[in-house]
Amino acid sequence: MISSIKGTKDILPPEVKKWQLIEKIARETFELYGYKEIRTPIFEATELFEKGTGETSEIVIKEMYTFIDKGGRSITLRPEGTPGVVRALIEHRLYLKSTPLRFYYIGPMFRYDKPQKGRYRQFHQIGLEVFGEEDPAIDAEVIEIVDFLLKRLGISQIEILINSIGCKKCRPPYLEILKVEAEKHKKELCPDCQRKVYTNPLRIFDCKKEKCINLADNFPKIIDYLCNECKEHFSKLKNYLNLYGIEYRVEPKLARGLDYYTKTVFEFISKKLGAQDAVLGGGRYDDLVKIFDGPSLPGIGFAIGAERLISLLPEEFEEKEDLLYIAYLGDEAKKETLSILRFLRKKNIKCIAEFKDKNLKNQLSRANKLNAKWVLIIGEDELREKKYKLKDMEKGIQKELNKEELVEELTKKL
Ligand code: HAM
Repeated sequence: MISSIKGTKDILPPEVKKWQLIEKIARETFELYGYKEIRTPIFEATELFEKGTGETSEIVIKEMYTFIDKGGRSITLRPEGTPGVVRALIEHRLYLKSTPLRFYYIGPMFRYDKPQKGRYRQFHQIGLEVFGEEDPAIDAEVIEIVDFLLKRLGISQIEILINSIGCKKCRPPYLEILKVEAEKHKKELCPDCQRKVYTNPLRIFDCKKEKCINLADNFPKIIDYLCNECKEHFSKLKNYLNLYGIEYRVEPKLARGLDYYTKTVFEFISKKLGAQDAVLGGGRYDDLVKIFDGPSLPGIGFAIGAERLISLLPEEFEEKEDLLYIAYLGDEAKKETLSILRFLRKKNIKCIAEFKDKNLKNQLSRANKLNAKWVLIIGEDELREKKYKLKDMEKGIQKELNKEELVEELTKKL
């Protein structure tokens, strides 16, 4: 038997409903804030991620699915969405039309990491990117969008971590200070972190090994070395978040694992997720467009891990299907049901009845199982009066309606 590849998973019909629903709510939310969908290819030139995600990121060092295609080109399955969006922005000169530009995307990403709970080799991100906004008000709005979306999805007990990792002016001198400090403890660090001392000591803060975490606790933090511009940006961001009434915690060790970030970085974490506790991560990347020879255009965005998001959904998270279930009692009612089914389907109303002998209670429980939004009950009384009982399964309300009123009622809600 051929089975699925390690770190990938099938999303089967009962679960797929949740995916459709979170994607729908995410789209609606982003569109509400003026974002437009962008779809970029799943594979790109390897160089795009080496230059974008960055040579010192663990993603590029260890986790890329890279192969040489039949034309001899080095290709990589996208490990994240941001570099592809930046490439498309430059390639199609989208910035010439008007800025700021607001994009969102939903799709699969690929990282060759050790699979575990919440970590897959093919996973899905719901992401968003803004270009051309320098003001920290957009940093706050981007965080507020996620907060809004999570609330819409009924997800609670999330902690928001924010930090600033400076800019090309204040970070290099800080990195020198950090390197000197890290070098003093080099022998105590894990082999990966020993390498990071020379490649990018900021990455030591991403290490999940207890010894490295404890050592890094005492290393100097970038937040204490910010230039005035970065300091002011961060302080304004905090003020705007306060204005929105959004609670957050400044986490000076939050460095984020990708190389392109400048100033604001953030993560939303949940204890319910276990070791892989970030449901999403994001930040500002003011130099990335320029790195790819594009114009000087600041950027900011985030990506939500869809698998982790779904695992946080409340149990009752389910939307009723736009389906009408007709429950009937007796032979005459059955005939009426057949005619009503035909009548309603012609009016484009999704409806079913089942013909295996069942009492009313069993039919209602079937409607529940099928997640039907409405049930129409046809019994003797209803037949006589030509008025049927329509039950709204979400609201628990019942109405008596004739055929025409029924169509009106159902199309109003569809
Ligand atoms: P990231 O932190 O690498 O950022 O990934 C964002 C989210 O994707 C994580 O918080 C997590 O929920 C999910 N994720 C990452 N790797 C895996 C995995 N192996 N399995 C399951 N879920 C995973 C980025 O990708 C940036 N592009 C975000 C961004 C957009 N920054 C600015 N704009």
